[in-house]
Amino acid sequence: MAMKTALVIGASGGIGAAMTTSLSGRGVDVTGVSRSVDGLDVTDQGSVDRVLGALHGPFDFLFVASGVLAPNGAEPEKSLGQISAAQMAHVLAVNTIGPAMILRHAPRLLPRKGRSVLAVLTARVGSIGDNQLGGWYSYRASKAAANQIVRTAAIEIGRSHREAAVIALHPGTVATPFTENYPGHRKVAPAAAAENLLRVIDGVGPEHSGRFFDWAGEEVPW
Ligand SMILES: NC(=O)c1ccc[n+]([C@@H]2O[C@H](COP(=O)([O-])OP(=O)(O)OC[C@H]3O[C@@H](n4cnc5c(N)ncnc54)[C@H](OP(=O)(O)O)[C@@H]3O)[C@@H](O)[C@H]2O)c1
Repeated sequence: MAMKTALVIGASGGIGAAMTTSLSGRGVDVTGVSRSVDGLDVTDQGSVDRVLGALHGPFDFLFVASGVLAPNGAEPEKSLGQISAAQMAHVLAVNTIGPAMILRHAPRLLPRKGRSVLAVLTARVGSIGDNQLGGWYSYRASKAAANQIVRTAAIEIGRSHREAAVIALHPGTVATPFTENYPGHRKVAPAAAAENLLRVIDGVGPEHSGRFFDWAGEEVPW
């Protein structure tokens, strides 16, 4: 079944905006919400309830594209001594508690019958098994915990929404404001990243729910 309706959360971001454009180009009826346009602060439960509570759906695709690497003006930690409680709390609030606040609304926003996909952008660096380099304590921990929340939600949502796939996705290294402090890295354009992710999203079904994939459809270790 082709996707008909989609909700993009974080539609103002590099990847969220590109996903919105790709979906519109396919004729999908897309609703986008963001902090800068709609006042949706994912760290504030009241704000999430107000913005998502006003939406009726159902949406056969939900895409969570909000996130931070570090608080404004800060860099991810390179060593233990650079850990700051306030900065860590902020990164976990946006990247871990944020998706959890959004997932609270998912059972109502997804269709009870028919295929649906809920994809949360986490990151390969959130993989505990794949961590070879160290550093980035807050960001890594926030994404590892977000993966656990996705997995747990997949189990619960699967009981009532039998054709839903609830997955965590790594988008690749994408040229957005998120990566602007890393000029040396090979990056893909946001439009290409959105198309890569849509190929994976098109191919997943309930048998893939609760799993973690990269932009090429390869499973990422937890
Ligand atoms: N770019 C990469 O290479 C890369 C790699 C791995 C994973 N990811 C993940 O992909 C996701 C999107 O990244 P991106 O590259 O598109 O980043 P981006 O261009 O910096 O966009 C970040 C988005 O997050 C939103 N946001 C930040 N704090 C928020 C808050 N408190 N409440 C609501 N929205 C908030 C921003 O909203 P406003 O602008 O409206 O404030 C914006 O829409 C993130 O979760 C990131 O961790 C990205």
